[in-house]
Amino acid sequence: MRPSAQSDTFLRITHGIAPADAAAIARAAELLRAGRLVAFPTETVYGLGGDAGSDAAVAAIFAAKGRPRFNPLIVHVPGLTEAETLARLDDRARIVAARFWPGPLTLVLARKETSGLSLLASAGLDTIAVRAPAHAVAQALLRAAGCPVAAPSANRSGRISPTTSRHVAEELGDRVSLILDGGPTAVGVESTVLDLTGRVPELLRPGGVTLERLREAVGPIEIAGRGGEAAPRSPGRLDSHYAPERPLRLDAWQARPGEALLAFGPDEPPPGFAEVLWLSRTGDLAEAAANLFAMLRRLDRPELSGIAVTPIPEEGLGRAINDRLRRAAR
Ligand code: TXA
Ligand code: MG
Repeated sequence: MRPSAQSDTFLRITHGIAPADAAAIARAAELLRAGRLVAFPTETVYGLGGDAGSDAAVAAIFAAKGRPRFNPLIVHVPGLTEAETLARLDDRARIVAARFWPGPLTLVLARKETSGLSLLASAGLDTIAVRAPAHAVAQALLRAAGCPVAAPSANRSGRISPTTSRHVAEELGDRVSLILDGGPTAVGVESTVLDLTGRVPELLRPGGVTLERLREAVGPIEIAGRGGEAAPRSPGRLDSHYAPERPLRLDAWQARPGEALLAFGPDEPPPGFAEVLWLSRTGDLAEAAANLFAMLRRLDRPELSGIAVTPIPEEGLGRAINDRLRRAAR
């Protein structure tokens, strides 16, 4: 479907942030079908969506984010039935999909020749990353649009992922036709990316579904990047730096002048920090993940000299939190 002169007027009128009610979701679906970009909430972070079957829409996503073309996008579908039309699923894939979809898990699978997906979405790879998000607005939008939706996180490339509609507006402003507001996202870190194209499943990115739960479901999982051979199969790890503009320092306990602190756990932090925000006072990793990106943004202010973070355990959601923090600290 081509956008008409009439729908161009319609686009200007609807530009901006809209509460994600039924009418706004219907408008967003129409925009997607017309090849436009729409930002929408998922349970992890906000996504910048475009019709995954349209080269022009997918190219517009890369352009809006300033994202390198070699970094492939996740294709979003309502569930397993739609995923089966795009990719080849084996028993392992069906087991994890049944267990964790809809939810914060992305599967890298062999793309079907008949998928109809833009090849730009998978950046020249013969695989495709697929996910069924759990957010009610995302589900309603995907069903209304009726097409698979390519959606990276709705931030400029290399920046912190957005967990509110306001973050999206700050990051992408008028590069997006409509931003659906569904409130702050619940999980707060992106989906876990699991590559199922090899003999042994491989974790490409820790995220909202923990490695522990995945291992319970499918047995042994390799971790990408451990041993050089895996590295070329995880292009995303070259890109996102999740970076605030202020320098970030991990496993910190002593204040440097003008520095802010992101604290985790009940211990009273030492004096001397210009400002302290608690990811979670009780040491709850889910709460910390939900707070992480919004707090990094809040502390990324010129009057602060840097951001220090206290140690966070490398288990459960702590793996995803530490992964994002390590990349932000580079
Ligand atoms: O939670 C999420 O996954 C969010 C929401 C919007 O769904 N999306 C998201 O997309 O985080 P993005 O583009 O920021 O991250 C996608 C990751 C990148 O690391 C990318 O390299 C990897 O998935 N990826 C995508 N397709 C791939 C493929 N065919 N093979 C290997 N990695 C792939
Ligand atoms: Mg991203």
